[in-house]
Amino acid sequence: MERIGVLTSGGDAPGMNAAIRAVVRTCVYYDMIPYGIYQGYEGLIKNDIEKMDAGSVKHIIHQGGTILKSARSDAFKTEAGMEQAWENIQENNLDGLVVIGGDGTFTGAMRFGQKYDFPIVGIPGTIDNDIYGTDFTIGFDTAVNTVVEAVDKIRDTATSHNRLFFIEVMGRDAGFIAVYSGIAAGSEEILIPEEDRGIEKLFDSLARTSKRNKSSRLVIVAEGDKNGSVYDLEDRVKEEFGDRYETKVTILGHVQRGGRPSCTDRVLASRLGVLSVEGLREGKRDVMVGIRDRSVRYTDFEKATKQNPKMDDELLRIADIISI
Ligand code: F6P
Repeated sequence: MERIGVLTSGGDAPGMNAAIRAVVRTCVYYDMIPYGIYQGYEGLIKNDIEKMDAGSVKHIIHQGGTILKSARSDAFKTEAGMEQAWENIQENNLDGLVVIGGDGTFTGAMRFGQKYDFPIVGIPGTIDNDIYGTDFTIGFDTAVNTVVEAVDKIRDTATSHNRLFFIEVMGRDAGFIAVYSGIAAGSEEILIPEEDRGIEKLFDSLARTSKRNKSSRLVIVAEGDKNGSVYDLEDRVKEEFGDRYETKVTILGHVQRGGRPSCTDRVLASRLGVLSVEGLREGKRDVMVGIRDRSVRYTDFEKATKQNPKMDDELLRIADIISI
């Protein structure tokens, strides 16, 4: 195990650079040669690969985004694309690969690694926190802090004008960003795909408090929520409550993907970067490295991609109580 490639794939996440840095520096530490692969699997197919050293990753730990760029690659899902990638891996004499991304990244790694009997270890890098096998994914903590800061600002104007705000947050089909930021920002309601009673609870609470003239409210809506778009929700509130609530909508969008990674994400990324290279050196493959219950876990790609982490019902219970 002498030459290791590293790439970032899927939606970028703050902390990916810290993970890249740790992978590269761990290779150098063990007298191995790191290779950066640009644009995710596209770079593997186009041979957009370059040797790196400790200096290649200086001054990046604090930067959002990924110096290796990222992309979603349809070509890598084809036989021809994988064949071309395999040729480039052989041409560069790579002995192993570290892939930083989400479940789509690991699905591709699993297929490729098994087809060519090639060692690959994954690092969970996505703001969604929707990867089984780790308590937190790289980027989640930074994204939630970004959302909380934005929602605190929205609360200022909501209370000044007695308005009801629907705030849509990312998370794809998971509600972790919504739940954590909703509790931290003190939102009155949180609507998530994992809980289908959200809309009834919202209407009950709106009916209850419209008498208690608590008329400014914040409703955090996960983008994957099954009650339709935030605009549909706004229309339903208008139908139900008429002008008792003046409603507004804010969609936070890609601001959640950027920004300087938090200390938590930098430390998590550094740990997982080191452990991914050490895992390859110990002969591990076809696995994702994560931290669960404060201990290091290597989870098969098969499991990491097939299962979703369970929403923490205790957090939902807490959110219900404190938003009374
Ligand atoms: O997976 C991360 C994520 O930000 C999701 O939360 C979001 O739904 C998606 O990526 C957006 O993808 P894109 O950046 O391609 O628009």
